[in-house]
Amino acid sequence: MYKVPKLADYSAKALDAAVRELLSALDQEALAVGSESDYKAFRDRWMARKNGILTQVNELWLKGAPKDAKKGVGQRVNELKSKVDESISATEARLSKGASASKLSADRIDITLPGIRRAIGAEHPVIKTMNEIVSVFRNLGYSVSEGPEVESDYYNFEALNFPPNHPARDTQDTLFIAGQDSKAQRDRLLLRTHTSPVQIRTMERLKPPLRIVIPGKVHRNDPPDASHSPMFHQIEGLAVDTNITFGDLKGTLDHAMKALFGSSVKTHFRPSFFPFTEPSAEMMVSCFICGGSGKRGSEPCRPCKTTGWIEILGCGMVDPNVFEFVKHNGYDPKKVSGFAFGMGADRVAILKYGVDDIQLFFQGDVRFSQQFG
Ligand code: DAH
Repeated sequence: MYKVPKLADYSAKALDAAVRELLSALDQEALAVGSESDYKAFRDRWMARKNGILTQVNELWLKGAPKDAKKGVGQRVNELKSKVDESISATEARLSKGASASKLSADRIDITLPGIRRAIGAEHPVIKTMNEIVSVFRNLGYSVSEGPEVESDYYNFEALNFPPNHPARDTQDTLFIAGQDSKAQRDRLLLRTHTSPVQIRTMERLKPPLRIVIPGKVHRNDPPDASHSPMFHQIEGLAVDTNITFGDLKGTLDHAMKALFGSSVKTHFRPSFFPFTEPSAEMMVSCFICGGSGKRGSEPCRPCKTTGWIEILGCGMVDPNVFEFVKHNGYDPKKVSGFAFGMGADRVAILKYGVDDIQLFFQGDVRFSQQFG
């Protein structure tokens, strides 16, 4: 390894030779630097104040020079200093460039590798069913209306002709929002028990004639079992115009059932009661599982409980008392009439897809939902 020699000869020729020897040692050592720790050793060997090569050059060459040679030696020593500086910075630059190059190559992405496939969900069978029902009515010129799930007593009950304390309210197993007692009853909040309040909300917003369907979630205090869930889905319908009759109701719903379940299904109406319709009815469709026979081969047909009929929705002619609440927006019960209906979308999906437990709809297992694509 290079060692700074003592100089005996201070002639220009001898000085130049000594400088050349030193510089070639510098070049070789710089080239040999391959790591951060090499670099530090190299820098210290040449630059260290105590006994670094430059310090030695100062001591051995400059201080030992005869007077008349000092100037020439001094000049050369200064040049050497800047050469050493240069070499050290160049070495440092070379190292850090190499480091970032190796980092770049370590981070390189192979764009020919296959990508990561994201799991795709499936359209939920209840949503799919609701969309199908909505589209049947869209084709008849109905539009879609929606409303809030947290509803007031007024829209959920009062304006639908459930007077305060009327026993019909008990049929709805309502979930009330806590802490509402200081409010007037009609302003108290609850989870809507049906989509019917959106009938009122829409009639407040839009003048007759009106044809709407209302899909949405509803809530009741029902313990979960194979056919009940505290949250489920309904689709409501409302048509209001002059001279709407029960015949329009029957024709519309009969058509909708044929579009949904097949052209051979029959419909059948039997009297019922809802506070917001008069007269009211429950509509049955002939069982599209057993074709109305009540039997599947020699087995009894479960979905229709062997009756050959499946109860599918509630309906009726809008009660004039309901129109009274929206009379100010053009719904004068003396001038307009209308029909309404409401059906459970989960129930329709259960029947359509032969699902035996409503809970399966709400457990979020994509393997379940994927079966209905
Ligand atoms: N809202 C009723 C329920 O949840 C269903 C219903 C019956 C809706 C008759 C209607 C209707 O619009 O006319 O039980």
